[in-house]
Amino acid sequence: MPQLIAPDVRVHSSFLAAMDEARAEGHGGPDDSTAGLSLRAYGDTWQDPAVFAEYVARLRLTHGPRSILDYDVPCTTLWYVDGDTYLGRLAIRHTLTEAWLRDGHIGYDVRPGARRRGHATAMLRAALPLAARLGVDPALITCDTGNTASRRVIEACGGVRDDAAGDDGVLRYRAPTAHGSHTGRTLPTVGKE
Ligand SMILES: CC(C)(COP(=O)(O)OP(=O)(O)OC[C@H]1O[C@@H](n2cnc3c(N)ncnc32)[C@H](O)[C@@H]1OP(=O)(O)O)[C@@H](O)C(=O)NCCC(=O)NCCS
Repeated sequence: MPQLIAPDVRVHSSFLAAMDEARAEGHGGPDDSTAGLSLRAYGDTWQDPAVFAEYVARLRLTHGPRSILDYDVPCTTLWYVDGDTYLGRLAIRHTLTEAWLRDGHIGYDVRPGARRRGHATAMLRAALPLAARLGVDPALITCDTGNTASRRVIEACGGVRDDAAGDDGVLRYRAPTAHGSHTGRTLPTVGKE
């Protein structure tokens, strides 16, 4: 059964295949900030297990200059895996600044080859109680107006529209995190600098 875990080297080969799928979908360019950051920094070298191990170690850091993301807010990255198969990624920003109101607390993607099987919905549902343990409640989750799949994911996970900002092409949802069916689950261990 798929589960959210802290990034782990055991899914190395599957992760590389997923990143090939992401590249084929157009990710990795200069304006691509999530998968793109990783692809630009490590995409040519992470076939080497030692390099991949360094990448994973940096991804497990929630903040600080050694963290891959190096955001101005702490961020926990989790991978959704089924055994040794990488399925997707989810990031929980512990706090929000004005600038992060565009992207919200939680971002996610499912590898192109594993979409439309309910993984994003299950992944976000599993992440909400973990967000609660990080002090996030409710979670602000956003998506572009045209992103039908993401809208359905958020709404299936209890998101309620909050569009006080008006029509700027972004839909904002507030999703309660603290009373999901998985409340009390242990947060996967991640590092801090
Ligand atoms: C959005 C995304 C995460 C959805 O992942 P997924 O695993 O395919 O989602 P699910 O299988 O849980 O599907 C959720 C719902 O969306 C629907 N859906 C999925 N893909 C769809 C598509 N391309 N067009 C229309 N509806 C779609 C599903 O049928 C399902 O609807 P239902 O609940 O009414 O049955 C995935 O498409 C993705 O990674 N996209 C690129 C990154 C992205 O947009 N991330 C979200 C940023 S806000």
